Amino acid sequence: MTAFTATVPGRVNLIGEHTDYNGGMVLPAALSVAMSVNLIPRADNRISVSARGYSGSAERALHEPAQDHWSDPSVGALREAVSLGLLAGGAALSIQSTIPAGSGLSSSAALIVAILKAARASGGSDLGDLELALAARRVENEYLGVPCGIMDQVAVAIPQPGQAIALDTATLDYTVVPLPADHTMVVIHSGLTRKLTDGRYKARKEECDAAREAIGRDDICRLDPEEIAAARGLDESVRKRARHCATEHRRVLAAVEALEGGDTCTLGALMNMSHASMRDDFEMSLPAIDALVESAVELGAVGARLTGGGWGGCIVACIANDRREAWQAELLARHTKARFVDAVGG
Ligand code: GLA
Repeated sequence: MTAFTATVPGRVNLIGEHTDYNGGMVLPAALSVAMSVNLIPRADNRISVSARGYSGSAERALHEPAQDHWSDPSVGALREAVSLGLLAGGAALSIQSTIPAGSGLSSSAALIVAILKAARASGGSDLGDLELALAARRVENEYLGVPCGIMDQVAVAIPQPGQAIALDTATLDYTVVPLPADHTMVVIHSGLTRKLTDGRYKARKEECDAAREAIGRDDICRLDPEEIAAARGLDESVRKRARHCATEHRRVLAAVEALEGGDTCTLGALMNMSHASMRDDFEMSLPAIDALVESAVELGAVGARLTGGGWGGCIVACIANDRREAWQAELLARHTKARFVDAVGG
């Protein structure tokens, strides 16, 4: 039987965290680490998945609900492919990944989008990449029960590796943004992994929902930080979460302007401010990650910040190309659990 393949990149978010379900902007870039899927349609309604460098192998039925198993995203993606008319039944999937799982680089979104792209190739459909991204989010929200926004799915479905996009999550309009030529955005894994399903992401989402309800606006990112300071009936921690959303959205707009103007110094300062806001207002960092970010800046990065959903995973740092080698060696020598993952720009 014919096999259909799709390769989809991981992503690093340069700035704009937890803004994507609060009506704000994000600025992710596609990486060179990637997820590849090989799909052979099956005549029955069963799914076999083998995942080299990922998890193992499994056999599931298409109608099964999620059961907290590593193959759930594959089952969910194929169910979505069937409901979109891309596939008639089950499939044999073979998956290969170089995206470290649980590191905030969207391995889950990349897997689901890759399966949908392979299914689209098998069905000869002309469904667009943005529609596939929306379908991939439905798999996360509805099948897997992960209340994520739309950033990751768009970030892995649309840009080419090495490209950054400024995405307005309220309208889904996006533009490709140039990355600096003389600086590199380096992705360093902290050595701490986390799962979006562990409850902390959901708790933050609920706090943002509480802010929305109390203020009476869905797009809390678009509020003036002063309006948030003045809003009545907000619990202090909810007020801090909302303040992060509003200030982070503004930092994304300023970062896009800085990148377009080649102003790496301002970009770096915005990344540092973003980290402080994630640490103090959104409270999604960890002491070991704060220490890694601090060292990255102390050793010469113009800016550094935690990237992704939080509480583990990777940092992204902006460092001048001619200082990068020595900087990286010193950083990894100082933080022995940290490791280099990928880099964009430069
Ligand atoms: C995860 C989610 C995204 C986004 C980020 C935080 O990656 O999947 O939707 O909310 O966290 O910016």
